[in-house]
Amino acid sequence: MPSVYFQTFGCQMNTADSDAIYQLLAQRGFVLNDSCVGSDLIIVNTCSVREAAEKRALARIAEFANGKKNHPGQKLWVIGCMAERLGDALKKDIPGIDNIIGAKQMERIDDVIESQFPKCQGDDKTSSSIFQKTAVTDFVPVMRGCDNYCAYCVVPYVRGREMSVPYDVIESAVKQKVGAGIREITFLGQNVNSYNHGGIDFPELLSRMAGVDGLERIRFTTSHPKDCTGRLIDVMASSPKIAAHLHLPFQAGSDRILALMNRRYTASQYRGFIDTVKKRVPGVDLTSDIMVGFPSETDAEFRETLALVRDIRFTAAFMFAYSPREGTAAALMREGISKAEKLARLSELIALQTEITREIYEKSVGEELEVLVTGRQQKRDRAWMGQDRGCKRVLISCEEGVAGMIFKVRAVKSSGMTLIAERVGQ
Ligand code: SAH
Ligand code: SF4
Ligand code: F3S
Repeated sequence: MPSVYFQTFGCQMNTADSDAIYQLLAQRGFVLNDSCVGSDLIIVNTCSVREAAEKRALARIAEFANGKKNHPGQKLWVIGCMAERLGDALKKDIPGIDNIIGAKQMERIDDVIESQFPKCQGDDKTSSSIFQKTAVTDFVPVMRGCDNYCAYCVVPYVRGREMSVPYDVIESAVKQKVGAGIREITFLGQNVNSYNHGGIDFPELLSRMAGVDGLERIRFTTSHPKDCTGRLIDVMASSPKIAAHLHLPFQAGSDRILALMNRRYTASQYRGFIDTVKKRVPGVDLTSDIMVGFPSETDAEFRETLALVRDIRFTAAFMFAYSPREGTAAALMREGISKAEKLARLSELIALQTEITREIYEKSVGEELEVLVTGRQQKRDRAWMGQDRGCKRVLISCEEGVAGMIFKVRAVKSSGMTLIAERVGQ
């Protein structure tokens, strides 16, 4: 049987896309390999969001192309966002690439795979998904693309226009996964809150999915502040199945920078929305994406970002230094900040957030939590990993067979970014 090896860079959407492609290949008799060595097909799924992400992918692709010399017949495919951005130019730079499938082709990926590997009669094996986060949790994309054109961002160019997945397609994917034992689903999209299909918007989608029997938890990412409504908070507050976690990127604390970024909200609008979420969803975990060193950002403006981080107290955050992307509006702006200055701002921000994360975990010690057990921790016998209703990682000690179960536990210790907990009652 032919074998395929995946290397997936980038966001969760790429993970979901690799998974969808694997499903199609599995129907054609492919088995998944956990090493590139001896694989008939190597697929590298790429990200373009920052220059460093592209550099990492390019280095890997070059390695695989070189390795093909020892594997006659081996094929190398490059797919995803960088494949979309650079297209056939990639083949010129790295001659070993056999096929390029850009991110926009994910919309018609069934046909793309069929054109490469036509299905034979009788070929219809279905296989369980391999890239899913664990055997207990999985992703379901609900919308693709982005129409927001934040000045710094390449995603609208490589992923194309916003497109919502029809409601019935989402519903049957969720039910099929729950039937196969999945307990938690994360709805994915660049801006899940702009979901709208046939009059069903995102809060409506969430509240309908909360009614699916056997689905214990619902998560979603990413939300854009301009699309968040009171109705989103209403469904979060009213359904115990919807995680008490909101990932809401704010990017920068200065209104001048937010306007230059084309984010379409002000820092005080963001603070106002967060205040309401905190009031209506007790104990909510808030997380964010934050960028430093956008063109012309002054030190005083950077301090406004720090102030917002200090006031809101995110449980965790992804933090980045601005990286110019060709073709975006910001690439034409004069940066006016040295690389060293950008990195100094980034380390100051990371130090502040790390301290807040540590304090929040520390404060949870003694609290009672509801933990969904997602799987065993590494190879340790009785140690199991899970997540509370927010976004905190929890480690508990249990006997066999607890994956997928929800327990009441009490946090007894914090190790920085993980809570150690004990079961309470039965
Ligand atoms: N759609 C999501 C984010 C997608 S990209 C959203 O709007 O929130 C993930 C994060 O990467 C962004 O939130 C941003 O913080 C960061 N990012 C995007 N483009 C970047 C760039 N050119 N340089 C540095 N960070 C960038
Ligand atoms: Fe990029 Fe902005 Fe779209 Fe997010 S909302 S993907 S940051 S353009
Ligand atoms: Fe990267 Fe594409 Fe995701 S650019 S962040 S893999 S949408």
